[in-house]
Amino acid sequence: MSTIMVDVCSVTKDYYIGKIRIPALRGVDLQITSGEMVAIMGPSGSGKSTLMNILGCLDRPSGGSYKLHGEEVSKKNDAQLAEIRNNAVGFIFQSFNLLPQLTALENVELPLIYRGLAGKNRRAQALNALVRLGLKERLHHRPKELSGGEQQRVAIARAVAAEPEIVLADEPTGALDSRTGEEILALFQELHAQGNTVVVVTHDPNVAYHCERVMYLEDGIVVANEPVRAKDYLLAEEVLAALPPTGEGDAKA
Ligand SMILES: Nc1ncnc2c1ncn2[C@@H]1O[C@H](COP(=O)(O)OP(=O)(O)OP(=O)(O)O)[C@@H](O)[C@H]1O
Ligand SMILES: [Mg+2]
Repeated sequence: MSTIMVDVCSVTKDYYIGKIRIPALRGVDLQITSGEMVAIMGPSGSGKSTLMNILGCLDRPSGGSYKLHGEEVSKKNDAQLAEIRNNAVGFIFQSFNLLPQLTALENVELPLIYRGLAGKNRRAQALNALVRLGLKERLHHRPKELSGGEQQRVAIARAVAAEPEIVLADEPTGALDSRTGEEILALFQELHAQGNTVVVVTHDPNVAYHCERVMYLEDGIVVANEPVRAKDYLLAEEVLAALPPTGEGDAKA
């Protein structure tokens, strides 16, 4: 039995710089089933982070409907959005977003405080997540005393400690070397195997290949949304190759 976890219908998002409107999403439809692992790809500026911020209840759409686990969230106020976020969403940012003055353990405990968990349970749950991510020996290190891969693992521990219904990761391996990236990818697969819903934004076809489905955004529109199989992986590369260059790292140099 599968339930719809994410139900996005005709979602638009406009940003404004002064009076200039920047249409970042121009009518996105997307459904994600509970327990699915989905990759979101697309060139720089295509709206991936904008969409992730909406999925993670960090921001609201300008138009259209977004239901998370059956609940319409697009019309909620800031406090209601924060509550949904604390209870249902684990968000992993490319830049880790750890608080520099807090230790690894304290960083992971923080969202559990917001969630109203009491002292002993809270510490146990944070510890558990860090141990699961292989950071037992790093509990009392501050972010600057950790490597990039370790910081990312703390950020993942923080995102999953509260056992959210959905884990959203915006380029979680973008800032890491390929080996650390592989380890992080294996962790996501483990989360997925445990029944978590996982959405990953990535520029890396290898990461997308390990997901069940890949969705391409281009200029704020979904241009492809396909199950991943070997041949689709090749198709994915074709689609990617056909996209306009993003300015950096042009493969045909
Ligand atoms: N706060 C903002 N104010 C104005 N414009 C914004 C804002 N955030 C994003 N944009 C614009 O919206 C568009 C989509 O941005 P977004 O960050 O979602 O792209 P992206 O697909 O995540 O790109 P990247 O791969 O580089 O991270 C871009 O044109 C960007 O310049
Ligand atoms: Mg982005």
